[in-house]
Amino acid sequence: MSRRKPACPDGDPAAALPAELSIRPVRRGDLEAVIAIDTQVTGLEKRDYWRSVYRRYGEAAGPGAQFLVAESAGEVVGFVIGEVRDWEFGAPPCGWVFAIDVRPDARLAGIGTRLLESICAGFRRAGVRRVRTMLANDNTLILSFFRSQGMMAGRFIPLEMELDG
Ligand SMILES: CC(C)(COP(=O)(O)OP(=O)(O)OC[C@H]1O[C@@H](n2cnc3c(N)ncnc32)[C@H](O)[C@@H]1OP(=O)(O)O)[C@@H](O)C(=O)NCCC(=O)NCCS
Repeated sequence: MSRRKPACPDGDPAAALPAELSIRPVRRGDLEAVIAIDTQVTGLEKRDYWRSVYRRYGEAAGPGAQFLVAESAGEVVGFVIGEVRDWEFGAPPCGWVFAIDVRPDARLAGIGTRLLESICAGFRRAGVRRVRTMLANDNTLILSFFRSQGMMAGRFIPLEMELDG
């Protein structure tokens, strides 16, 4: 993935990051913080959903699956989840990012960038050379973020319809 580093006034892209920031695989004890961040961001608490995501991508994650958290000063301040999918939609294996969230009070400090870099490093280790994601077309924040990382419109388009009755 080609990407631009975030601009930084003193020329060091890492300068704005909390000094003690670490990106690591999720642990069971992180789940409450992940649920709290998602609830704050989306306005909807989905405990059962997050438990099932943890089971699939956390403790029992298969090869290529990643559920990473950003930890600063002992607190989880963000997370990213994705996996390598093989030949879905007829596409060669690639990495998919299907969730990324940074706690609102921790944003614009480079944490989202670090999370995406880390999951992409995992995708590279798994042997894929392309990453994809999907986003709502009115979510300008997440669009601005992914564009800043070098992601652009791809050759797939989403289609959908209502299933009545
Ligand atoms: C998108 C998100 C992950 C970015 O996290 P972050 O830690 O603030 O990101 P960074 O600090 O690494 O920002 C990197 C770049 O993204 C872009 N960006 C981030 N926030 C932005 C904003 N509010 N407006 C415009 N551009 C923005 C900028 O280009 C920024 O680089 P810059 O600071 O040099 O200008 C975070 O805002 C978030 O969690 N938003 C909600 C996500 C969401 O809707 N999730 C549900 C669907 S998965």
